[in-house]
Amino acid sequence: MKGSLVSALAALVAVGDVAVATPMTPRDDALAYSPPHYPSPWMNPAAEDIKYAYDRARAFVSGLTLPEKVNLTTGVGWMGERCVGNTGSIPRLGMRGLCLQDGPVGIRFGDYNSVFPAGQLSAATWDRVLINKRARAMGEEAKGKGIDILLAPVAGPIGRIPAGGRNWEGFSPDPYLTGVGMAESARGIRSAGVIATAKHFVGNEQEHFRQAGEAQGQGFDIDESMSSNIDDKTMHELYMWPFADAVYAGVGAVMCSYQQVNNSYGCQNSKLLNGLLKDELGFQGFVMSDWQAQHTGVASAAAGLDMTMPGDTTFNSGDSFWGANLTLAVLNGTVPAWRLDDMALRIMTTVFNTGLEPPLPEINFSSWTLDTVGPIHASVGENVEVINQHVNVQSDHAPLIREVAAKGTVLLKNEGGVLPLNKPKFLAVIGEDAGPNPRGPNGCPDRGCDDGTLAMAWGSGTSNFPYLVTPDQALQAQALEDGTRYESILSNYQNAATRALVRQDNATTIVFVNADSGEGYIAVDENLGDRKNLTLWKGGDELIKNVTSECANTIVVIHSTGPVLLTEWYDNPNVTAILWAGVPGQESGNSITDVLYGRVSPGRTPFTWGRTLESYGTAILDKPNNGGGAPQDDFSEGVFIDYRHFDRATARNPDDADAAPIYEFGFGLSYTTFEYSDLQISGGAVREYTPTEGETIEAPVLSEDVSTDPADYQFPTDIRPIEQFLYPFLNSTDPEKASRDPKYGQTAEEFLPPGATDGSPQPLLRSSGQPGGNPQLWEVLFTVSVTITNTGDVEGDEVPQVYVSLGGDDEPVRVLRGFGRVTVPPGESVVFKTDLTRRDLSGWDVEVQDWVINEHEKTVWVGSSSRNLPLSATLEFDEGTYE
Ligand code: BGC
Repeated sequence: MKGSLVSALAALVAVGDVAVATPMTPRDDALAYSPPHYPSPWMNPAAEDIKYAYDRARAFVSGLTLPEKVNLTTGVGWMGERCVGNTGSIPRLGMRGLCLQDGPVGIRFGDYNSVFPAGQLSAATWDRVLINKRARAMGEEAKGKGIDILLAPVAGPIGRIPAGGRNWEGFSPDPYLTGVGMAESARGIRSAGVIATAKHFVGNEQEHFRQAGEAQGQGFDIDESMSSNIDDKTMHELYMWPFADAVYAGVGAVMCSYQQVNNSYGCQNSKLLNGLLKDELGFQGFVMSDWQAQHTGVASAAAGLDMTMPGDTTFNSGDSFWGANLTLAVLNGTVPAWRLDDMALRIMTTVFNTGLEPPLPEINFSSWTLDTVGPIHASVGENVEVINQHVNVQSDHAPLIREVAAKGTVLLKNEGGVLPLNKPKFLAVIGEDAGPNPRGPNGCPDRGCDDGTLAMAWGSGTSNFPYLVTPDQALQAQALEDGTRYESILSNYQNAATRALVRQDNATTIVFVNADSGEGYIAVDENLGDRKNLTLWKGGDELIKNVTSECANTIVVIHSTGPVLLTEWYDNPNVTAILWAGVPGQESGNSITDVLYGRVSPGRTPFTWGRTLESYGTAILDKPNNGGGAPQDDFSEGVFIDYRHFDRATARNPDDADAAPIYEFGFGLSYTTFEYSDLQISGGAVREYTPTEGETIEAPVLSEDVSTDPADYQFPTDIRPIEQFLYPFLNSTDPEKASRDPKYGQTAEEFLPPGATDGSPQPLLRSSGQPGGNPQLWEVLFTVSVTITNTGDVEGDEVPQVYVSLGGDDEPVRVLRGFGRVTVPPGESVVFKTDLTRRDLSGWDVEVQDWVINEHEKTVWVGSSSRNLPLSATLEFDEGTYE
C-alpha cells in the first residue's frame, strides 16, 4: 500500500558504478565497464532559456514539504490513474499529478485523436518545417486531452540494426538527420505547451533482451537485461549526438532506457545520466525511467534519475523503490536533501518553462477504457466517474498528416516515366497491404498484428486510428474521378485470379507489400519486436513475382518499418516503379495517391537499402551469449552503421557488388531532374576553442529546518488509502520497519560510490557549459552554398545534401552535415545554403575528453544522395583552428 515495502537500500550493491541487484555477482573484468560519475549535477541557474522558470520553480519547491517533493518524483503505480504514467499530486497547492502519455505517432489509448506518420517517414521528408509542424500538431492534440508530458520523440533506437523493432518510432540511422528530427520535434511539442521527452537514452537498439523479465517470458534463461557495450567515441559521435540536439533545443524530459550500457542499467548509470547528460550536455530538464526500468532506490537517485515511472517496482506490485522509500532515504541522509530538491526543481522548472501552471488543465480521457464512465484508479477499479469526455482533438491536422506521409514517400525506381500516373486506362491493385484489417483499423491491441494495410507498427508507440484511408479506397476514388477501370484483389494468395487480372491488356498494376515490427512485449508471427529477417511479410516476394510474370507494368509499393530486401526483383524489367511509403498513419491511401499521381514531390530514403541482411554489418543479438547473465552486445562496428558501413565496404573493396547498396542513403527520385552548380564556401576564420573552466555553484538546499523525525511523515489519517497506489508517507514510526529492509541503517558511505552525496561546488567539464555542451560547438565556421537548377519539365522538390570527409584512417568516408528541401519550378534555380558548425567538423577525442577538429584535410561534398555528390571542395581554415 504505502510503497515502503522495498527498501530504498535494498538491492544496492555498488560495483564500481554498477549498482546491481543482489545477489551480487563479482564484476567480470573482461566485460565492458561504465566508469562512475558522481555527484549528480544540480541545475545551473545560469543556463540559457530557464531563468524565469527556474526562479519560479525555486520559490515553488522551497515551499513544499518532503512528501510533496517526493510525490513529484514518483509515479502512482501502473494504471493507478488515467494516463500511462502519473506522478503524485500536491493537493494543498492545487496541483494534480502530471499526466505522461505516449507517444511518437500521437496519443496512445485515446479516441478522436489523429494518427501521424511515423518519425522515420517524417525524416524521409528531409523537411525541418514539416517535422516541426508534425510535432506541434501532436503536442496540440496532447494538450487538448490534458496531457502534460508527451513520451516522444525517439532517438534510441537510432537504427543501428535494420531489423530493430522500434526503428520506425525514431528517425534515421544517421545522427545528424535524427538530431534535426529530435530538435524540431522537441521545439514543436513544446510550442504547443507540452513537455517533450527524448527517449530512450541510450543504446536501446534492439528489443531482444532489453528487459530480463520480458526475455524470460519468451523462454530465454537470463537474469539480467542485455548490455549495449559502446565506446566513448561512438557514444559521442553517434548515439548521444541526436540527444545533444534535443538538449540544445530545450527538450524538457529524457527517458532512460531499459537495457544496460557497459554493464550498468540505463536508469542508474551515473556515467550516462550524471556524466554525459547532465554534466557534459548541461541538461536542465528531468530524467524519467522507462516503465519498470528502475532497479534500485538510492543508487538510481545518486546516478541522476529524477522521476520513476510508472512508480511501482514492477507493474501493480504496490511497492516502489521511491515513494515512501525516498522519503526515508532523505530522512536518513542516504539521499541528500539537495538531490531530492534538484529532482523537484528540474521537474517544476520544466513545467513552468513549458507554460504549464497549476492548476493544470483537466485530464479528459482514460488510457484504460474508452467507456465514458469508469474507474480513475483502473488498477483496482476504484473511484468510478465520467473519465472519458471523448474530446475531439484532431483539429485540422489531416492535411498535414497527408502531406508529411506523401512528402516522405520515396520513389526508388521509375522506369520510362511510368509515374506519375495520368488517368490510366486500367488500374489493378493487388495485395492485402492495400486493404483494410478485417478486425478494423484498431482491431489488434497496440496494433500487434500485420493484417490489412500497414499504417502503423506495434507497441507502446501506437495510437488509435480515428479512421484509416486505405490505398484501395483512395486509389479507387481517384480512378472513379478519372474514368479509369479499377479492380483490386486485397489478398496475397489469390494467385490464379491475380494472374488472370494483371495479364489483361492495358493493366497498370500496383502491388502493395509490407514488413512490420514493433516493441518486444508483443510477438507477431514469431517476430519478438525485432524482425527475424528483412524479407517481405506474407509472401510479398512471391506476390510480386506472380504479378511480374504476367504484367510488364508492375509498380511496387512497400509499407515497412525499415529496409527490406528487394534483391530478387528490383531489377526485373517488369517492375517499372518502386516506392517506399514507410509507416504512414491515418491518411495512408491519400498520401500514396498524391505521390503516384504526381501531385506531391516525393522524399529521400533515410536509411540504406542493402542487398543482403549481412551486408549491413550489424545484426540483432538474438541468442544469449553470456550464460544466464546479461547478454553482451558489443557495438564493435563503432560509428560505422548504415551508409558509413556501406561506404567503408565499398572503399575497401570497390568490386564487391554484394557489399554495395541497391539504393544508398539519401537517394530518391523525383518527377523532374536537377543540376548542381556553383559550390561556394565562405568562412573559415575560426576562433580558438576555449575549454570551459571553473566550478558549479554549491548544491542548493531549498527547505530549512525540515523535521527528520519519521513520526512527522506518517500516513495521514484523513486519507483513504487506495490499494497498490503509491504514497510518499511512512507506515511505521520505526524507519527500519517502514523500510522492511534487513540492511536498513547502512550509511551512504557504506554502499554508494565515493562522492555520491557531495553537494560542494564541482569542477566543470571542458566540454560542458550550456544545454547542448560547450556553446562554441554551435558556432558557425563555414557556410556552404550551391545553386540547384530544375532541368526538367515540372516543378519538384530537391533535397540537397552536404557531406563532410573529416579525414583520418578511422573516420567514415563521409558524414552528413547539412541538408534542406527546396521547391524549384521548371527551368529555374534556387540557391541553397547551410552552415557548418564547429561540432559538425569535430570528432570526439577520447584522450582530451572533448570535441576536437583534427589536423586532416576536410572535404565538403554536395549532391542529391550519399553517393551522388557532383560538387566538392576542400575547407580552408585560418591558422589556430586545430588543437
Ligand atoms: C516503452 C516506452 C513507453 C513506455 C510507456 C515502455 O515499454 O519502452 O517507450 O513510453 O513503455 O508506455
